[in-house]
Amino acid sequence: MVAQRPVTLCLHDFKLIMLIAHVTDPHIGLRTNRMQAHPGTTEAFRRALIHVRQLVPAPDVLLLSGDLSETGREEDYITLAAIVEEELATLASCGPLVLAIPGNHDTPAVAKAVLGELMPVAADAPDGTMCLHVERGGLHFIGLDTVHLGFAHGHLNEAQLHWLEAQLTACAGHPVLLFMHHPPLVSGISAMDACGLLEGGPQLGKLVAAHGGVQLIAAGHVHRLILGTLGGAPVVVAPSSSHQIDLNLQPGAPLACRMEPPMIGLYRWSLEDGMACHFSHVNPFPGPFAI
Ligand SMILES: [Fe+2]
Repeated sequence: MVAQRPVTLCLHDFKLIMLIAHVTDPHIGLRTNRMQAHPGTTEAFRRALIHVRQLVPAPDVLLLSGDLSETGREEDYITLAAIVEEELATLASCGPLVLAIPGNHDTPAVAKAVLGELMPVAADAPDGTMCLHVERGGLHFIGLDTVHLGFAHGHLNEAQLHWLEAQLTACAGHPVLLFMHHPPLVSGISAMDACGLLEGGPQLGKLVAAHGGVQLIAAGHVHRLILGTLGGAPVVVAPSSSHQIDLNLQPGAPLACRMEPPMIGLYRWSLEDGMACHFSHVNPFPGPFAI
């Protein structure tokens, strides 16, 4: 079990600006020998977290939005937890609050057993789900568990939608960030849409619209940077820390991946300024140069 470091005396708590890092789909344990120039999923995830660690100012929150493991093995979650501990423990006095949810490649119960407080499941979460709700810096982080066990596609069933409605009602008038594995949008990449969020998307949109204060819906799954909207809120899909899905919008195109440079999401939010979503390359580039 991984425990979060204590944060009650952390200066981050008094920031007016929240910085939220978003790393998704590390697929720890995936065999990458057919992916030319892939450093391996463990090394790729480590590089992403080193990039997070080197950001100045340091992020307050790190979202991990599923497909943490390729096949849901306990050893993959042990590896992931060790990298989080090793790479983020050196942040000054307190690291970011890490919030993880599962994806369709995960075994949620095994992930929770290993990751512990990195996956702070709500006490009243619907049975068998890893839904979470944590307030930080005035922003309510609500993680939805879209995993439909035994299937690649995602869903939000009636119990989860009722739970979400209760959470949004409880924080009416307060800003919310939703995050989930399967994004509530149609990407146009046929093979990924076939295993997308196939149930509950329209109902989610109605709940988001009714609340009126959802600042962002952040997701993974598609392994590409994609923007959309739902219920009046912006939707972002972050690239994977491991490999990207080939951009092919031809109907029926076969699924393929491409070794495009990995990126992390970095979301800047304040009550006054709202949300600005940046995406930062993990691999270094020359610069900065004064201009
Ligand atoms: Fe994935």
